[in-house]
Amino acid sequence: MSNNNIEQMLIDNKQEKLLNYLNSTTEANRTKIASQLNDVDWGFISYLDKEDSSSTSVISPIEATTMDDIDKKFTAYEECGIQAIKDGKLCLLLLAGGQGTRLGFDKPKGCFNVGINNDLYIFELLIEHTMDVVKKCDAWIHLYIMTSDINNKDTIEFFEAHNYFGYNKDYIHFFIQEMNPATDFNGNILLSAKDSLALSPNGNGGWFSSMNKAGLLEGIFNSNIEYINVFAVDNVLQRIADPAFLGATIMENKMCGAKVVRKANPEEKVGAMCLSNGKPHIIEYYELSEAMKNETNPDGSLVYGFGVILNYLFPISRLKDTLGESMPLHVVKKAVPYIDDAGQLVKPAEPNGYKFETLALDLIHEMDDCLVYEVDREKEFAPVKNKTGVDSVDTARDLLSKNGYIL
Ligand code: UTP
Repeated sequence: MSNNNIEQMLIDNKQEKLLNYLNSTTEANRTKIASQLNDVDWGFISYLDKEDSSSTSVISPIEATTMDDIDKKFTAYEECGIQAIKDGKLCLLLLAGGQGTRLGFDKPKGCFNVGINNDLYIFELLIEHTMDVVKKCDAWIHLYIMTSDINNKDTIEFFEAHNYFGYNKDYIHFFIQEMNPATDFNGNILLSAKDSLALSPNGNGGWFSSMNKAGLLEGIFNSNIEYINVFAVDNVLQRIADPAFLGATIMENKMCGAKVVRKANPEEKVGAMCLSNGKPHIIEYYELSEAMKNETNPDGSLVYGFGVILNYLFPISRLKDTLGESMPLHVVKKAVPYIDDAGQLVKPAEPNGYKFETLALDLIHEMDDCLVYEVDREKEFAPVKNKTGVDSVDTARDLLSKNGYIL
């Protein structure tokens, strides 16, 4: 792109500050930043004036398939799911592109060792859980792993160094998600170095279009695959490729499925399943009013009491229809390291700018209906988000020990 075009692009997107910088910096810095600007999707600019606000749509409760319901039909669900996996109808997507800032670990989160006396890496646990199903079904399952520019190399090297933890590497496919620039609170794009924009992964919702850009969808469309099980990197106890969950989604004739746990208390910071204008929806904990948070059913359970654990089943056919549509962006206040006007790197402790992220939960809202599938939080929910405290390495280790893991 010519200098004139870049100048126009920056003016059109209200980036005069960056333009001034480019005009005053070295040729080498300018060239590097210009090449990054070529890849910027400027859609984020239109979100600057609309920080996430609570939705005006009508929220109502959604019916869940509880653990009691599941018990009654478990064998049938499981048999149905096993057959579907044997028939090659399922693939998996591990979302591993996040930066894991809360954990504060300088490698990809999956490389974190939750062991104490023995090595037990998060990626290793996730592969182990998947292998349980591979063995049960006697069939390999394609596993897609989304990384970002920041952690792709480390992630691949880690898998190679550990021989893919015994998984068939022909069935593992890495791809890189897109990045968005971060801005200050005035909408000016920040720099992370004198020759680089402050870019960060664009959230965990844009994976289908990233898979498309990586050329991975054709293989899926030309195969028997009908469902994709999408899951987060940090829940070390989750069941992946769970045959009963897949079988239940198929047998109950639901378009998609979401694993949920009963919220530990009304204040727990997890998104809750609900309906929004009659369609499946996830309402964030901060969007629930006090009254809704505490509303109970006649049996005392919370009306909005089923929290999502970021483990979903989506139908490929419906995802295909969404390909042309752009996902909404969420504007999140974050602490973004940046180069100040004097050229010094600043690492703020408090939020100083915005990141623009797509969220997996927005895909749920694109579905006609959803199987809300309850699992036992003591057995399937051990997220490693923080170093200590709630949802931390400590709590995950406790739960792993309770479930028989030797750490
Ligand atoms: P989180 O919302 O916990 O974000 O991600 P994070 O980046 O891992 O951690 P913090 O907030 O900085 O501490 C939930 C899941 O979504 C993935 C993460 O890797 C995790 O599996 N994710 C998140 C992506 O794949 N890409 C992203 O851009 C963001």
